[in-house]
Amino acid sequence: MLEKLQSQPADALLALIKMYADDEREDKIDLGVGVYRTGEGATPVFSAIKGAETRLLEQQDSKSYLGPEGDMGFVQALMPYVFGEDATMGGRIAGMQTPGGTGAVRLALALAQRAGAERVHLGLPSWPNHVQILEDLGMEAVPFDHANADGSANLAALIAAIDGAAPGDMVLLHGCCHNPTGIDYTPEDWDVIAQALERNGVLPLLDIAYQGLGRGLDEDVAGVRSVLAAVPEALIAYSCDKNFGLYRDRVGAFYVMAQDGGTLDTILSNANALARATWSMPPDHGAAAVRIALRDPDLTREWRTELDGMRDRMRDVRRQLAVADSDAPGLNLAALTEQNGLFAVLPLDRGQIAALREEHAIYMAGSGRINIAGLHVGNIGKFIAALADVTQR
Ligand code: LMR
Repeated sequence: MLEKLQSQPADALLALIKMYADDEREDKIDLGVGVYRTGEGATPVFSAIKGAETRLLEQQDSKSYLGPEGDMGFVQALMPYVFGEDATMGGRIAGMQTPGGTGAVRLALALAQRAGAERVHLGLPSWPNHVQILEDLGMEAVPFDHANADGSANLAALIAAIDGAAPGDMVLLHGCCHNPTGIDYTPEDWDVIAQALERNGVLPLLDIAYQGLGRGLDEDVAGVRSVLAAVPEALIAYSCDKNFGLYRDRVGAFYVMAQDGGTLDTILSNANALARATWSMPPDHGAAAVRIALRDPDLTREWRTELDGMRDRMRDVRRQLAVADSDAPGLNLAALTEQNGLFAVLPLDRGQIAALREEHAIYMAGSGRINIAGLHVGNIGKFIAALADVTQR
């Protein structure tokens, strides 16, 4: 039977990890998969997480099962950061732990599908896995343009998609630090989006994977909060990969805001059933470390300081690239300071991306997406010179 299966291409983004590792050139630069790197090019464990892990090792007296909802202490500790002071919006929000943000997106979509959703409006380009998950679930991705040519968000396209949506449609929005473009909606845009969603009744799925890495912890979820204040119900996917540096530990959360708190139990019973049938239970270790870090004021302070440092460093790299705008005409590097987070898309063609890889040992996604955090004082000069080389041939 298995001979009927057709070979599938490797995930293009994850394949870059291996290609980069296999390259023996010493001055190679990895701008591929989205992991934060320090000014020395390292991706260390957060010291707040190390501190929490030390306590976890000392205190943990069992590794017995927790259940499909995972570590609810973790799920609740995160809520004030996402939703603000009234973290349950008057008892209308509840959640559960998931294996990473991917698990949360998958669970949210599968749950909505159970409730009858079939189509999801999605601004492109988007994180490639969004479309892959939709296809795998048999849901339809309805595309619209996320960005304008000048590097701003295409609000008109999103509003047209929401206004033209059919009953039962969803819209998937990046909460902040849009992946791959780094182009976020402005606070004023978010107010318009919230009104459109309220008007039309489209169910939003808000994907938050970079809180704290754009403008600040509160600033990065201000748009999400505007939407939640306006709409009757919403689904939220959250990733701790980047802002807690827990990539391989797979730490995420799924939240639902219901029209009426009385229906939360029923909604979550469905989410639990889906989780049980898919991964049974999420891995515990990373979520337990986040719980400990967020319940301890000293560790929380340490985490926030580390996050501030990461954000500042990426802003600095963006500024340095913008200064080099005239070295690589046509790439609009000047716009990078207006954008947020780990990523930006440079309008390079396939040949230029291949030349950067083959001739300069610079690795980036085939979409022209670069990981801003892959650049630092030791390699940014080489990167700018390579851009100048491939764009001025
Ligand atoms: C990325 O976009 O590079 C990250 O979110 C990693 C991933 O899983 O794709």
